[in-house]
Amino acid sequence: MSRKIAEDAKELYDQIQFGHLNYERARYNPLLFDFLGMIKKDERLFDIGCGSGYWMGVYVDYGIPKERITGVDISPSNVDTLKQRGFNAMYGDVMDLQLEDDTADFTISNGVIHHTADPFRAFEELVRITRPNGHMYLSVYNKWNPYYYIVHKATFPIRYLYWNRNKKNIVNFIYPLSKTLFQPLALLLLGRFLDDKSARALFMDQVITPRAHLFSKKLIASYAKRCNCAIETIKYTNAFFMITSIIRI
Ligand SMILES: C[S@@+](CC[C@H](N)C(=O)[O-])C[C@H]1O[C@@H](n2cnc3c(N)ncnc32)[C@H](O)[C@@H]1O
Repeated sequence: MSRKIAEDAKELYDQIQFGHLNYERARYNPLLFDFLGMIKKDERLFDIGCGSGYWMGVYVDYGIPKERITGVDISPSNVDTLKQRGFNAMYGDVMDLQLEDDTADFTISNGVIHHTADPFRAFEELVRITRPNGHMYLSVYNKWNPYYYIVHKATFPIRYLYWNRNKKNIVNFIYPLSKTLFQPLALLLLGRFLDDKSARALFMDQVITPRAHLFSKKLIASYAKRCNCAIETIKYTNAFFMITSIIRI
């Protein structure tokens, strides 16, 4: 089962190249910049589930040398895109990373582990590859936001048809329909309508994604405790969409 979810995720994210959305993504990642501020010039940063590299560009603009950054993703097309942009990038599954223990000083995983079959296993892997006293930035879906019950949980028949009955063209009907709901919400929360590419990426990521686990702060604290890590900061993002945290290994 966990192999199927990883295979499905690979297929899905290969199609949509999640990364560049036409709104100010930094507003939804306030702790990320505190985290980047902790990185010294010669330290190694890994972004696991980096997508097509929206944030990789942000890290460089922030002043982190490109050669100290590595992106890892399950989608080969994301990895190719990053390599073409001159980044260190490798194919990998967060559930079973082909990286040595303590490889990273700083590890980021933004919007990824909730899409796996076993988020705790993914969390353990992120801890394993980060050195003791290194730091991890984690961003996951917030279970207290009703949005996910409407957009993800209630839409399970669509996902069932898409993945289990191979009715891939269901997207051609449901996506245009869903835009009439998405767009007023986008205007309200983001101050703008989404362009088609961004709206489709969010639709595939939130509705069609093979898995979307929901987290509470308590659950993240229990993961950290089981892995002997310490949560330094934990915070809901704007509009309570995500829970972001900085965790010391
Ligand atoms: C919502 S996107 C987030 C991308 C990026 N972190 C960002 O914020 O722009 C989720 C990403 O996780 C990747 N992903 C999903 N399952 C994965 C897995 N098991 N291992 C590694 N990457 C995975 C997808 O390919 C996709 O690029």
